[in-house]
Amino acid sequence: MTLAPTAESLINRIIVPLDVPSESAAIALIDALPQVTFWKVGLELFVSSGPAILSQLKSRGKRIFLDLKLHDIPNTMAGAGRAAGRYGVELLTVHAAAGGIALRAVQQAAIEGAQQSGESPPNVIAITLLTSIGPEALTTELKVSLSVEAYAEQMAQLAKDSGLAGAVCSPHEAAKLRKLCGKDFRLVCPGVRPSWAQKGDQQRTMTPSEALQAGADYLVIGRPITQAADPAAAIARLCTEMAA
Ligand code: C5P
Repeated sequence: MTLAPTAESLINRIIVPLDVPSESAAIALIDALPQVTFWKVGLELFVSSGPAILSQLKSRGKRIFLDLKLHDIPNTMAGAGRAAGRYGVELLTVHAAAGGIALRAVQQAAIEGAQQSGESPPNVIAITLLTSIGPEALTTELKVSLSVEAYAEQMAQLAKDSGLAGAVCSPHEAAKLRKLCGKDFRLVCPGVRPSWAQKGDQQRTMTPSEALQAGADYLVIGRPITQAADPAAAIARLCTEMAA
């Protein structure tokens, strides 16, 4: 399906997660949707298929969001960041809660890894707080006395102060984080649903247009595309709506 010119450029703002359990299932999805330029590889696929899936994406000229949510001591974070940098991934996630020293270490090592293999350095972006942690768990389990919103803002600020390129956030937090962290801080938002799609387990959603208006740079949109009766038509509809 061909997209109108404006809609065509908007496809580059959509990242589709490869939420599948094997390399063969991932390749089938990638090849079924050639118009998708940016794919997310998360823990399930990376643990099951290893880095081979990154080579498959690279060989097809795709952009890669490696969503490994790294959280470890600075030395280990740096080692993983260096290895990710060598693959030439464009986005890499780490938990801001790993602390400023680890965040600086992983960012620096990712740049070194990219230099070693002649790739562009990844944008290391922070998970501020998992959306599965609500106010109750934050207070009673993690013993954090801040509100969820205030904690997420603190973590975004820590990420920015540590030289990270951006954060993953709910579209509902995008406007606030954009203001707090500036125009160059990349905001990547899951929890996006067009009005015609099922919300599934996503609770607080925004439509793609609303999320872009709120300041999101990239939208992670999975099931509204991958589970649609006609995924290519779903992408075309999404992009046309975003262009409007
Ligand atoms: O299918 P859906 O559009 O809900 O997929 C969203 C993707 O973004 C999934 O890969 C999910 O793991 C990821 N994600 C999320 N919420 C977060 C962080 C990541 O939905 N807070």
